[in-house]
Amino acid sequence: MPEDLYKVTIDNITIEVPPGTTILQAARTIGGDVTPPAMCYYSKLEDSGGKCRTCLVEVSKGSEKDPRPMPKLVASCRTTVMDGMEVKNITSPRTLEARRGVVEFLLINHPLDCPICDQAGECDLQDLSYEHGAEGTRFEFQKRIFQKHDIGPYIQLHMTRCILCYRCVYVADQLTDKRQHGILDRGEHAEIATYISKSLDHDFIGNVIDVCPVGALTDKTFRFKNRVWFTKPVDAHRNCDKCAGLVRLWLRGDEVFRVTVRRDEWGEVINAPDGTPAWICNECRFEKKKESDWVIEGPTHINRHSVIAQGHYEGLKMPKEFLPEVIGKKPRLFLNIHNVSEVNRPDIDLSLIEGPATSDDFEKPIND
Ligand code: SF4
Ligand code: FES
Repeated sequence: MPEDLYKVTIDNITIEVPPGTTILQAARTIGGDVTPPAMCYYSKLEDSGGKCRTCLVEVSKGSEKDPRPMPKLVASCRTTVMDGMEVKNITSPRTLEARRGVVEFLLINHPLDCPICDQAGECDLQDLSYEHGAEGTRFEFQKRIFQKHDIGPYIQLHMTRCILCYRCVYVADQLTDKRQHGILDRGEHAEIATYISKSLDHDFIGNVIDVCPVGALTDKTFRFKNRVWFTKPVDAHRNCDKCAGLVRLWLRGDEVFRVTVRRDEWGEVINAPDGTPAWICNECRFEKKKESDWVIEGPTHINRHSVIAQGHYEGLKMPKEFLPEVIGKKPRLFLNIHNVSEVNRPDIDLSLIEGPATSDDFEKPIND
């Protein structure tokens, strides 16, 4: 083993990583179920992690030099590996029990409004609850409520859904030069808020939407327009003088419903060719909502375990048409279902309507 690498065993899989690597990063190099979930850690945001406790793991052997186990479960995003360390994630009943407890705590104040939440289908808390949550709640008290804050024309804040992971605060701190929002108060009263109701107008502030693991910060221009699993994600780019212009378009037909950063398998923004995170600017995110604004590269690869993979096909291969060979000619179409039907009002772009569509939007005469 080269001298400057540490050997670490996670769920009986041994790998070698450089000193200073956290247990979570080491587990990510193995991938799959061995990797603990992370709700607050975000490798592209300095100082993130250590808030949510979903990444707790058991260290059954501290190191080669000091093999004693660590007495308490540790946050894998904040604990660095030691040479010879042995870690248990899914092989530790203690860890799984603790994770169930953490999910129960996170859900104590969560409104569970997934049926109307725009984050449904791509919410980390939803996934975590399915995997580690209980089907019932023991919480009998009233959930937290907050005074509503308007944080500008593009971003919707639902404080009741926030899990106080601080990711959006780090984005505002590290990507913009004038942070106007942060976490106010402490304990049960802690909330994301703007100081003196200022709206957030920095070019890169839209990225708080993509880092939020739950539906606390959502895109106002996409709000209630579509369920994410009905849209088709494609990777696209454009020449932008503010950002790398590498985005993911969420299409329905040829309408662009939403523009987001491209995410990797850990749900984090990918790196641009120059090695820096490919955060996108507000102009690309909120104003370029026409397919013609973009050069489309191809369908996004979606993990087949994700609900978004529904009806999303890559590298589609059509079965061979054998009927023309058998009958010796092309079969006649009885009904051309590809004709555009006026019933669906193809002249109305849902993605361009301000806010949720209402019956008024459809009462306008055709070709108005
Ligand atoms: S609003 Fe979202 S990103 Fe910000 S602290 Fe709450 S959960 Fe985290
Ligand atoms: S991801 Fe480690 S504490 Fe939140």
